[in-house]
Amino acid sequence: MRLSRYFLPVTKETPADAQIVSHKLMLRAGLIRQTAAGIYAWLPLGLRVLNRIEQIVREEQDKAGAIELLMPTVQSADLWRESGRYDAYGPEMLRFKDRHEREMLYGPTNEEMITILFRDAVKSYRDLPRTLYHIQWKFRDEVRPRFGVMRGREFLMKDAYSFDLDEEGLRRSYEAMFVAYLRTFARMGLQAVPVRAPTGPIGGNLSHEFHVLAETGESAVYYDAALEDVTHEELLSADASTIARLTDLYAMEAEEHEKVTECPVPADRLRTRRGIEVGHIFAFGTKYSASMGMTVQTSDGGNVHPHMGSYGIGVSRLMGAIIEASHDDNGIVWPEAVAPYRVGLINMRADDGNVTSAADDIYGRLQQAGVDTLYDDRDERGGAKFATMDVIGLPWQLIVGPKGLEKGVVELKRRATGEREELSVESALARLTAA
Ligand SMILES: Nc1ncnc2c1ncn2[C@@H]1O[C@H](COP(=O)(O)OP(=O)(O)O)[C@@H](O)[C@H]1O
Ligand SMILES: [Mg+2]
Repeated sequence: MRLSRYFLPVTKETPADAQIVSHKLMLRAGLIRQTAAGIYAWLPLGLRVLNRIEQIVREEQDKAGAIELLMPTVQSADLWRESGRYDAYGPEMLRFKDRHEREMLYGPTNEEMITILFRDAVKSYRDLPRTLYHIQWKFRDEVRPRFGVMRGREFLMKDAYSFDLDEEGLRRSYEAMFVAYLRTFARMGLQAVPVRAPTGPIGGNLSHEFHVLAETGESAVYYDAALEDVTHEELLSADASTIARLTDLYAMEAEEHEKVTECPVPADRLRTRRGIEVGHIFAFGTKYSASMGMTVQTSDGGNVHPHMGSYGIGVSRLMGAIIEASHDDNGIVWPEAVAPYRVGLINMRADDGNVTSAADDIYGRLQQAGVDTLYDDRDERGGAKFATMDVIGLPWQLIVGPKGLEKGVVELKRRATGEREELSVESALARLTAA
């Protein structure tokens, strides 16, 4: 993409209303724009990152055997009356009426809807187990939307729902999602700690939150220092023993930790850090299948209410969490896996025909090789171009200028480390097109 034809409203000023670094950088780098309290437009560069995060989430859900569908954002109040949650949910639910005075709402979550979809279609044990998921916008009228997309009112969530014949099956489905979550966050370069969570209004008996450790996190987390020793490779290839190890290790949110009278972790191993909740999984059993009358026939002719779980990931919140975990004084440092473009190509002298034809040629060859490239071909000062590339945080910068070209070289800069290297155009291209 040529920057001269792109829409990238980068700003130098630090926005006054942004308190945390990810929010500031998302505004400065032209990723998002607030259009109403807690509601954001995703600008082109931000949308590319959001799509990449969403795709990693999708791939890991698919790998775990979950099946994608798409449920609507608008739901009818009657659906929520069936489970009894319409009155229980409170003012976070955005309620409105259609032209026929029918009560409607903008979905804050989808347990009720998935339950009727499944209930009306599935009658036999042969169709279980199943896990279904969708990636859809949610609305929760948060009292205090803040920290940008971290706590928005409209936000993108992946929510999955599992259906099993019995508790044992539910435990297996829960563990499959647990593993998928570990892999999902690890692929994004995040260290996410699974924290045993109280089950709250969704009910049930087993629940974990996944927290990315960051100073600006909204929750305080207590955990066993041994959790820090779990390697990236272990998370990517997590098996039953990794799950057992992770769930046996102590990790609690502050409110839960306060209730613990005798702490199971020796004081010298107990760590406290702040965390951002990026995922939350629940095994709640028959709560909805019983209240909404869903039964399936068992192999011996009996009837049971399926045991269910629900599994959320804050897709839009993850973008904030990734930036909190990966930035420096000059801007965002995207992990390769979610970067909006892999390479930022800088033409240092757009007013110089030779430099421009060399840079154009490199751009063409990168495109041909399928390398996502953002090409700064604007007639601007070099300093301004460097600042823009640094703030938007693409993994590689390739700098083409008149002095280098005289010597037959270009400069390659790695954003994460700031290392710069002079090399021939051919070697630079070879480096960037290698997988
Ligand atoms: N207001 C919000 N803005 C952005 N992401 C959110 C918001 N509320 C929840 N999420 C994300 O969706 C995931 C699932 O939500 P859930 O656990 O049901 O919400 P809560 O933590 O508010 O009870 C959370 O782990 C979080 O990552
Ligand atoms: Mg939660």
